[in-house]
Amino acid sequence: MANEFNFDDTSQIQIPLQLIGQVIGQEEASNIAKIVAKQKRNLLLVGAPGTGKSMIGRAIAQMLGNAHTEISLMHNPTKPERPLLEARGRAQVMQKEKSPSKQKKEGSILRPTDVPSFVSERLGFKCKNCSSYSSPNTSKCPSCKAEKYRQAAGPFEDLLSGMGDSEREDVVHTTRVMNGKEELVLFERFDDFTIRALDQKDLTQMNEAQGTMTRNVIVPLGRSLFVQATGASETELLGDVRHDPYGGHHQIGTPAYTRVIPGAVHEAHEGVLFIDEIVSLGSLQRHLLTAMQDKKFPITGRNASSTGAAVRVDDVPCDFILISAINLGDLDKILPPLRSRIAGNGYELVVNSYMDDTAENRQKIAQFVAQEVRRDGKIPHASKKAVEAVLAEAKRRAKIADRQNNAISLRLRALSGIVKTAGDWASQEGSLLIEPKHVALAIKKGKAAEEQMSEKYGSVFNAAMSDWASTMPAPADKNLR
Ligand SMILES: Nc1ncnc2c1ncn2[C@@H]1O[C@H](COP(=O)(O)OP(=O)(O)OP(=O)(O)O)[C@@H](O)[C@H]1O
Ligand SMILES: [Mg+2]
Repeated sequence: MANEFNFDDTSQIQIPLQLIGQVIGQEEASNIAKIVAKQKRNLLLVGAPGTGKSMIGRAIAQMLGNAHTEISLMHNPTKPERPLLEARGRAQVMQKEKSPSKQKKEGSILRPTDVPSFVSERLGFKCKNCSSYSSPNTSKCPSCKAEKYRQAAGPFEDLLSGMGDSEREDVVHTTRVMNGKEELVLFERFDDFTIRALDQKDLTQMNEAQGTMTRNVIVPLGRSLFVQATGASETELLGDVRHDPYGGHHQIGTPAYTRVIPGAVHEAHEGVLFIDEIVSLGSLQRHLLTAMQDKKFPITGRNASSTGAAVRVDDVPCDFILISAINLGDLDKILPPLRSRIAGNGYELVVNSYMDDTAENRQKIAQFVAQEVRRDGKIPHASKKAVEAVLAEAKRRAKIADRQNNAISLRLRALSGIVKTAGDWASQEGSLLIEPKHVALAIKKGKAAEEQMSEKYGSVFNAAMSDWASTMPAPADKNLR
């Protein structure tokens, strides 16, 4: 069977460009991975260490292509501790990058009667006393003769004057709710008769044109769509707001919108959120469930004693594919609603730990060796005989770990380690190829500590005993021996 390989060394083996094509022996998982990427489903992978679970997660992220949306935060002049959120598409981001300085200040020109009355009052068009309209340049209302606004005067003026209680303002900031989102609107006096209204889009364009854009991109377009959140803390998973000792003071503090940090759930927007050992998230599983259900999750300071706790951004998008990997024994520790959420909109899959010893599968081990050599980049390719040696080791391992006689092990991380160590020996020797002797040496070196001990001492138990005996103090009284 061994001389069936039709190559001299692994440099002649073609490797699929796509990562999913490089996953070996997991045909069912690979097919489901394609569906998961296309239909945006979740996936729970169950199986032995080093069999390709993380690799499948990466392959799914690769199939998703590039992100489409950038998420950024902007200063909110009316409520700095509630930064304004903007999600922009690729075209929008690119367009802004191409022509940053040509945007003009436009907005809409309105009559004073068409804006909210507090706006026309504060801009000086409307009299608070009799509600009639007049030019903002006349400080006395032509109809009722009342002072329209407080004149800049002595400190007690406002206590004495009962009428004009506010100064004339040039700009009024306010917010409105558009499509369920709070949005900034700015009104300013345009001329004696009209008011200009600038909505958030106008303001963004204007700021960008002036080069004063105050934007904090928290989830950039060029991000990786594979986000790993294994062992993540609450802040890593859900985001946070940094502390500012000056409490975001407008002159000496750090503005709130620049202190907001996204969580892994946000960074994985439009991509894959990969979590190994999902049960280790403990109570965070509940938040993860909420994020998955709502596809958005607020970012707020998570330390109650930090000034960050006063800052909050609602509805930050987090539409991700959840891929989690777990040991078979831990299945029952996943929060049941979370597990049913994954299964209800996705797949649960047990990955293989071995494959049958067939001609096709033996060829796959050759592909695997070629892949490992290319990925490593620092070791020479393997000769046909060296591949045969790796294959023999894979068969031996299927026998030991899975008690399978006619099978090839898919615990490939361990085999990958052997290929790399063999490669190191080969290049140390100046050999142009990895040869069987290098593989043999690597297998010997790569043996787990238990295996080495049992070879040395006969069994792990004996080794442990001799270790224990050597740590025992010699009894002082020979009668005690
Ligand atoms: N099915 C496979 N096909 C090809 N290479 C594999 C496969 N499984 C593992 N490998 C090799 O082993 C390495 C480690 O695999 P991976 O990290 O995907 O394993 P895992 O199942 O996630 O392990 P763990 O349970 O320890 O997280 C991969 O980078 C790859 O080099
Ligand atoms: Mg893994």
